[in-house]
Amino acid sequence: MNYKSKLSKLAEGITSSIIRELLKFASEPGFISFGGGVPDPETFPRKELAEIAKEVIEKEYRFSLQYGTTEGDPLLKAQYIRYLERWEGLKGLTENNLLITVGSQQALDLIARTFLDEGSIVALSLPAYLGAVSAFKMRNPRFLTVPLSEDGMETEILEKKLESLSSEELQRFKFVYTVPNFHNPAGVTLSLERRKHLLELAERFDFFIVEDDPYGALRFEGEHVPSIFKLGGMDRVVLLNTFSKVLSPGLRIGLVIAHESVISRLVRVKQGVDLCSPSLTQRIAARYMERYDMLAKLKETLEIYREKKDVMMKAFERHLSDIGARWTRPKGGLFSWIVLPEDFDTLEMLEIGKEHKILWIPGSAFHVDGSGQNTMRVSYCLPSKEEIGEGVERMRRAMEAYKKAKVPSR
Ligand SMILES: Cc1ncc(COP(=O)(O)O)c(C=O)c1O
Repeated sequence: MNYKSKLSKLAEGITSSIIRELLKFASEPGFISFGGGVPDPETFPRKELAEIAKEVIEKEYRFSLQYGTTEGDPLLKAQYIRYLERWEGLKGLTENNLLITVGSQQALDLIARTFLDEGSIVALSLPAYLGAVSAFKMRNPRFLTVPLSEDGMETEILEKKLESLSSEELQRFKFVYTVPNFHNPAGVTLSLERRKHLLELAERFDFFIVEDDPYGALRFEGEHVPSIFKLGGMDRVVLLNTFSKVLSPGLRIGLVIAHESVISRLVRVKQGVDLCSPSLTQRIAARYMERYDMLAKLKETLEIYREKKDVMMKAFERHLSDIGARWTRPKGGLFSWIVLPEDFDTLEMLEIGKEHKILWIPGSAFHVDGSGQNTMRVSYCLPSKEEIGEGVERMRRAMEAYKKAKVPSR
């Protein structure tokens, strides 16, 4: 059977994720990977989760091994509402404002299916989170791209771009997608001023904001900045949270926090996708939150990430300064972003990186317009401190070898 001839146009157009391909070769022995944005498995509270899982299966099997509602486990929702009140100061949320999804990735997919048609317009940053771009692309929208600076998305440029849209285009403009804290891939955080500016623009041009925040609780330095949701409320903001970076990505639990009119629409779409999110992992997460202070437990993990980040920053100073590189100094999250001189191509350079057994993610993967050749994403969460030091040295050697081979001497 030639299945290829039967493929949908949509499936024909989907290419494999470059990150997935790259991560495959990084599993070879001796490799140091700055590639994956995945938590350190040693930080998972496995003893606690194992104990709860046993109890939840043995004693709560009528719920945990059964289908659940599309909206999600009411117990988990109740716990999460308490958490949002404590952590973010969000008051007045009810069960109807929450939808439990299979990771935030599903939330992005549901948002795309619910709000986007071919030709709809969405604004996002350059670079942008690849998973969101993939989810949105399924609906074939037009992307309005906005550069990032140290203070996050340059809302002043967004404003200019919105002003230049015709009224017909503004009708098709649906939302701005933003990762406000410790951006994936850029590591930067949207300033309070820009959060407020974004909300003003949302009012003025009548759009909503998708605030994707997997990393907000992963701050290891500096002051917490209130969420856009907290500043602007649910009339303009759809907030996405996930357990992936604060507890475990294997649970595959994400949450949409939004106006109930949005939630009810997402629920209708989700019914046709998977009926419901897994009852078992939802109940495990609910009982975990009931028993433990999730954020207090995270403190140790954050200390580990901060130390690793410091080691990486020191190594960058030592090995990358004189090559003309700039990089972000994250105050939380998992990533730093390196900008090399224009004549570097980090995808091309990866061939040399492979010889030196070091992996980064080429920045062009995060640019919907195909730019960003001289940029790269590096993650410090998974390798050990020793590996980070050694990995940066390997990067330096790869850069020198690449320069010798490729970059014309000036
Ligand atoms: C910005 C952002 N959004 C969403 C996700 C998806 O997370 P999950 O589906 O594991 O909740 C990630 C994962 O790395 C991410 O970085």
